[in-house]
Amino acid sequence: MPLMNTQVGALRHSAGSMLLLSTGIALLMVSAAQAQSETQTTIGNGAENGVEKSVFGHLPDGRQVDVYQFTNANGIELRVTNYGGIILSLKTPNVAGEFDDIALGFDALDVYLSDAYRQANPYFGAIIGRYGNRIAGGQFSLDGKSYSLATNDGSNHLHGGDQGFDKVLWQAEPFENEAGSGLVLRYTSEDGEEGYPGRLETEVTYTLTDNDELMVDYQAVTDKATPINLTQHSYFNLKGEGSDTILDHQLMINAPAFTPVNDTLIPTGEIRAVDGTPFDFTQPTPIGERIEQDNEQLSFGGGYDHNFVLARDNAASDELVLAAKVWEPQSGRMVEITTTEPAIQFYSGNFLNGDLTGKQGKAYGHRSGFALETQHYPDSPNQDAFPSTILEPDDTYLSRTVYRFSAQESFDE
Ligand code: GLA
Repeated sequence: MPLMNTQVGALRHSAGSMLLLSTGIALLMVSAAQAQSETQTTIGNGAENGVEKSVFGHLPDGRQVDVYQFTNANGIELRVTNYGGIILSLKTPNVAGEFDDIALGFDALDVYLSDAYRQANPYFGAIIGRYGNRIAGGQFSLDGKSYSLATNDGSNHLHGGDQGFDKVLWQAEPFENEAGSGLVLRYTSEDGEEGYPGRLETEVTYTLTDNDELMVDYQAVTDKATPINLTQHSYFNLKGEGSDTILDHQLMINAPAFTPVNDTLIPTGEIRAVDGTPFDFTQPTPIGERIEQDNEQLSFGGGYDHNFVLARDNAASDELVLAAKVWEPQSGRMVEITTTEPAIQFYSGNFLNGDLTGKQGKAYGHRSGFALETQHYPDSPNQDAFPSTILEPDDTYLSRTVYRFSAQESFDE
């Protein structure tokens, strides 16, 4: 399908001299890109380190959806669409310096819009909101008023409802600054949308840094008190997307406790120590080592699908702490996650069943990707003992998670 050329507007530059230089190069790069194909606009300071924008497709109502491609100084390449803020691909090197795409996803917008995808609903790579994970029975009350949300996961509300932040079109603005390049995504969720109170103005910023990090910053304000729990739902397979299972990946989660669930994956309210359980990932352990153990919690999740309570000690709420590290022995790839959030959902891809076929034509089978979703605890609006997820009109919701990608010979190198 022929795609249109596009121009990208306001870029945020930190240094005036850089602006002139990079604008000049940007113009050259635009014509180079045009000569090469009719699809792309290059922005920024050159082919190896910059931003390219192209058209991804159109929504049924005709609105255009775009893709932005970012490349850092070390060749790491990130592709993001403003539909759902979805991370489409992420190419990082293995120990031998060979790049592979480690993020599960698709090359075509149509796949994300298809009935098959919506029914499977894996939320590949998407921004999740207003509320990551489950709210029991789709019900909560706030300031004496009851609210009913969509029950899109059996009897529960999951990941923001029928049309969560993963299925809306965000307004996108690419930028470059001293940290790297990235995309600011903005979406206003109207009062009552998906049953939630308040008009919520949301901003999510992805920054790909030259330090091989993907930094995700979340910000929101509301005009009425409302629950909020934003997260990013990327699935990784550090061997490369479409490879076999992630069971050999070694995982460390910096969590002394987790929140056990009932058989519909709603927390019971207990905060249970991980000691002596298959949920103890305080030392690096292969994901598959205990996943088949006879354990009630594992049987409820069909594997791991649980909220881990991070060791934040006395860290301030805006301080990044280590949440998790994952290392894959064959490729040597590692991802290290730090966050300002109090918890992380570890989901071992238990609902993947081979029905969806990925970018390289390979089926995404059972446990062929894992998600580590930084968050507040599930069902917090109904659980007074959990840290509050209520955003008040005078406050600003702020959250940051950083994923750092590397490759090394051993977990501890
Ligand atoms: C989260 C949930 C899982 C599942 C996935 C998406 O991780 O906890 O139960 O819904 O999202 O499939």
